[in-house]
Amino acid sequence: MMGIRLLSGDHLAALLELEATAGSGMQPAALASALTAPDRKVLSAWQAADKQRTSQPIGYAIVAIGPFDAEIEAMGVRPDWRRQGVARWLMQAVIEEVTQADSERLLLDVRETNDPAIRLYQTFGFTFDGRRKGYYPAVGDTAGRRRVDALLMSRAMKD
Ligand SMILES: CC(C)(COP(=O)(O)OP(=O)(O)OC[C@H]1O[C@@H](n2cnc3c(N)ncnc32)[C@H](O)[C@@H]1OP(=O)(O)O)[C@@H](O)C(=O)NCCC(=O)NCCS
Repeated sequence: MMGIRLLSGDHLAALLELEATAGSGMQPAALASALTAPDRKVLSAWQAADKQRTSQPIGYAIVAIGPFDAEIEAMGVRPDWRRQGVARWLMQAVIEEVTQADSERLLLDVRETNDPAIRLYQTFGFTFDGRRKGYYPAVGDTAGRRRVDALLMSRAMKD
């Protein structure tokens, strides 16, 4: 059983712990500010409590709602919960939020090497708009010399 919750400033410790394993690449300061920013929604997927385990967050997404477009800023799922539909649940919840906000488009950018995320986004109807060359540092390149392109993707929210 799984549920979706909107997180607030009270959930910073849980969100930092989740990001440490989910690895969406958000910095702690950005997570803290997203929890209190009026134009951002932080959605978290929770595994419901059962006899063996207490309820715990297993994935999250951050969406920024702008005047016309909305943008997914982060999406991450704990490794031990991947390929079980958690990101699918989160994406459905994001789309509901963005529909309620009356946004025209939902945007995101993704490392060109991140096949799981690209496939997830394509499943939800996102298409490619362009590319930002060398936008991201390569994963594990602490010297910051190798860079990876960002692919820009979007999905229309209205006909
Ligand atoms: C990308 C990510 C969020 C997907 O989460 P998930 O909960 O495993 O995804 P789901 O189980 O809901 O999968 C939904 C669909 O996405 C695609 N997908 C997800 N993981 C995939 C993989 N490893 N390989 C290929 N396709 C994949 C599939 O189309 C999948 O549908 P299917 O299982 O019916 O084939 C997860 O791998 C993750 O947290 N990665 C690290 C953080 C990250 O890269 N975030 C995105 C950029 S910020």
